[in-house]
Amino acid sequence: MAARWEARADLIVAGTGVAGLTAALRARELGLRVLVVTKAAGDDGNTRWAQGGVAVVMEDQHDPGDSVARHIEDTLTAGAGLCEDAAVAAIITDGPAAVARLRERGAVFDAKPGGLLERTREGGHSAFRVVHAGGDATGAEVERALLKATVDGRVPLLENHVAVDAVKTPLGAVAGLLVLDSNGVPGVLTAPAVLLATGGLGQMYQATSNPSVATGDGLALALRAGALAADVEFIQFHPTVLYTGRGARGRCPLVTEAVRGEGAVLIDATGARVMKGVHPLEDLAPRDVVAAAITRHMAAEPGGVDDHVFLDATALHDMATRFPTVFAACASVGIDPAVDPIPVAPAAHFACGGVVSTVDGRTGVTGLYAVGEVARTGLHGANRLASNSLLEGLVCGTRAAETVAADLAIGLISPARSVEASLPTAPVADRDLLQRVMSRYAAIGRDAEGLAVVGSVLDVSTVDKQLESRELVEDAALTTAARALIAAAQQRTESRGCHVRTDFTERSEAWRRSQLVRLTPTGQPVLADPVLAEGVA
Ligand code: SIN
Repeated sequence: MAARWEARADLIVAGTGVAGLTAALRARELGLRVLVVTKAAGDDGNTRWAQGGVAVVMEDQHDPGDSVARHIEDTLTAGAGLCEDAAVAAIITDGPAAVARLRERGAVFDAKPGGLLERTREGGHSAFRVVHAGGDATGAEVERALLKATVDGRVPLLENHVAVDAVKTPLGAVAGLLVLDSNGVPGVLTAPAVLLATGGLGQMYQATSNPSVATGDGLALALRAGALAADVEFIQFHPTVLYTGRGARGRCPLVTEAVRGEGAVLIDATGARVMKGVHPLEDLAPRDVVAAAITRHMAAEPGGVDDHVFLDATALHDMATRFPTVFAACASVGIDPAVDPIPVAPAAHFACGGVVSTVDGRTGVTGLYAVGEVARTGLHGANRLASNSLLEGLVCGTRAAETVAADLAIGLISPARSVEASLPTAPVADRDLLQRVMSRYAAIGRDAEGLAVVGSVLDVSTVDKQLESRELVEDAALTTAARALIAAAQQRTESRGCHVRTDFTERSEAWRRSQLVRLTPTGQPVLADPVLAEGVA
């Protein structure tokens, strides 16, 4: 079916998280006609669920001895050898200015009397450098401030429209975005630049810290448009989401790592410390180490309960005021963290890989840009350092808007004409089945046999369908993302960062490289030859 309606702009931003809104606001400041589109309501994205904060080393307020260089070093260590040094340096160095801009836009961070910002610590950080808001409601405050600035700045926001496909000119440049409204009516948003800020894909698993919108739509769209993806096998599992009973499904409440940063420890049912002797930083080891240790402990310890451990925060005096979101989630299931150890388990949290993009948001497709969790800039490598994601969104959102403005000014992209677009057909697997096999065989602890099972289950259960509803767009995206992950995970015969293989338990120097993924014309993700792919990424 051809598109039935059309709207025009200079830049279409898909997604209303921190990266997308930051980009939209900057684009507006630069005089671009910008339109933001989201498949849900403006505040329904992942950003609002972020708890811990923003990792940043500010010139005038930091721990003695802390520095931007140390933040860079911690990021590289957490990334387990796969970060790109230049991207890490660029993003971390821009952090203080990005946080200052956010505060100018109205975000209020927790401060001590006298005005200096409070700082906490999370896994993998060698200093207290995570600034936060509302105690543990940083994402909610960032989202509130940016949405308000968007409304105040009269940036148009089109809600309940899902991005389906990039519309392209006959020469292959992006000319707009094909969307569907909530009744399944297609339309085209015509623009020379489309910025994907659609977030992650935690819904690929049964239990996740991510909301229901996190279905990998942007990744699949970019692959269909001819972009490359990388590091897609590295899905970060947060070590501590609240355990609410066997077989939890969908978004599970997060118990921020900052609770451990401020003294809580992981214990098993016998009271034994889970992280003792596992890593020099114990409970504050990088997230991949902690999540894997919990998983091993649950499986092996005779005193352990097989599907959760506990976070003992009873020594913290001010849980209700310092961590109100966590406290409320615990209270809702009858847990009082002052006296009860909090039951917790790892759950899917963050896609470290994504659409291959520069720190300025450029992908290999003219006119297609990507920022935030959907993008793979090289900041996270094989395992993201805690609280680096809001930072990445702030820095790269600004840079991407400036890049679009510059690309327009020099004529690298140019105002698009109306183009014909029709709904694509793509492979779609059953979501429930996909989530079950991914959780069972492609979470923490993978092996060749299990990955092959997922591959064949997806192959036999996948049917080509026209993407004529939001649900089908999401299911197709989850299918593409899962198949991409399986292709990359099967090939990577080592354990590194968030990719833990039980049949290849060691890290291998030969595997100190990222794998690229592209889509075949029939919609099958395959590994791309890095030499042939040169110039595309
Ligand atoms: C947390 O607060 O533990 C999550 C923050 C993050 O994912 O960086």
